[in-house]
Amino acid sequence: MSSEAPPPLRERMLGLLDPSGLMAMAIPHYIHVCIEAIKRGEVLAPITQTTRLRDEAFARFWIAFSKKNAPPPVPGVEPELKGSSALIPPLLKTASGIVLDIGPGTGSQMHLLRSPAITAIYGPEPCVGLHGDLHSKAVAEGLESKYHILKCGAASAELIPALEATSTGVVDAHKVNGSGIFDTIICVRVLCSVPQMEKTIRELYALLKPGGRVLVTEHVVNPWRTAKGSVLARVAQGVYQLLGWSFFIGDCCMDRDTEGALRKAADVDGGWESVEIERSFGWSPLPYISGVLVKKSN
Ligand SMILES: C[S@@+](CC[C@H](N)C(=O)[O-])C[C@H]1O[C@@H](n2cnc3c(N)ncnc32)[C@H](O)[C@@H]1O
Repeated sequence: MSSEAPPPLRERMLGLLDPSGLMAMAIPHYIHVCIEAIKRGEVLAPITQTTRLRDEAFARFWIAFSKKNAPPPVPGVEPELKGSSALIPPLLKTASGIVLDIGPGTGSQMHLLRSPAITAIYGPEPCVGLHGDLHSKAVAEGLESKYHILKCGAASAELIPALEATSTGVVDAHKVNGSGIFDTIICVRVLCSVPQMEKTIRELYALLKPGGRVLVTEHVVNPWRTAKGSVLARVAQGVYQLLGWSFFIGDCCMDRDTEGALRKAADVDGGWESVEIERSFGWSPLPYISGVLVKKSN
């Protein structure tokens, strides 16, 4: 657990409402998308095309959310980040080699990936409505030639063909000797949304080169059974799930044991070389894990 002291009671109580602010922002986008579909004559779309409409609504929500949360850039000045956002820069700045940036969204973290130690970045992003902003961000950060946007999810069955389609040859050696593809795999607020998380994490582990690193910042199930967790926040997570959190927030789940799944993925090799994971905000319905897992070298 992080040694960070929990905030005062009032702040903790208000913190229970944080997810409701996100839902209040996401739900109107879903309603608008449904109304637009109906006006276009697709009267049954909200029932028969739910996945498509949810995807479209999530893209609009995430673009609006990203803009709202992006601090205005001041040349030469690092923005002061608050909450979980402050966990991300120290981790991502250590990325190197061939990088897999899973679910990059609008590219909010891309400015942290400008290191010359990074040779190429592959960003599997299944929500196509975000690709325009993602591409613009890559151009703005001077990463256009390094950053490959992939229209797929993180599961190997989608990811490998999409990587092959880039014609960069990034998969070639792995296909011959299973030596792994990536030096760094970045998971920032994405494992909460991937379907079949445990399986996907095992597949990602197999794509990590020996000595490769997973950089992770994810919100997880509240550790309510531990001293740093909160029963109330765990109950709040359940309530938000019941109110449609996953439906409106792009399949995001609040109740995942992501750390457990990450740790377990390396069991095939007798564990990770090292795991340094911190827990933060255990008092909140959006508690976080953040840290680095290093795969054993051969
Ligand atoms: C909460 S957003 C986070 C975006 C970005 N990582 C950030 O920190 O700003 C989650 C992202 O994961 C993407 N996503 C959802 N399911 C995914 C999957 N199976 N594989 C890869 N990305 C996925 C979503 O489309 C969305 O862009």
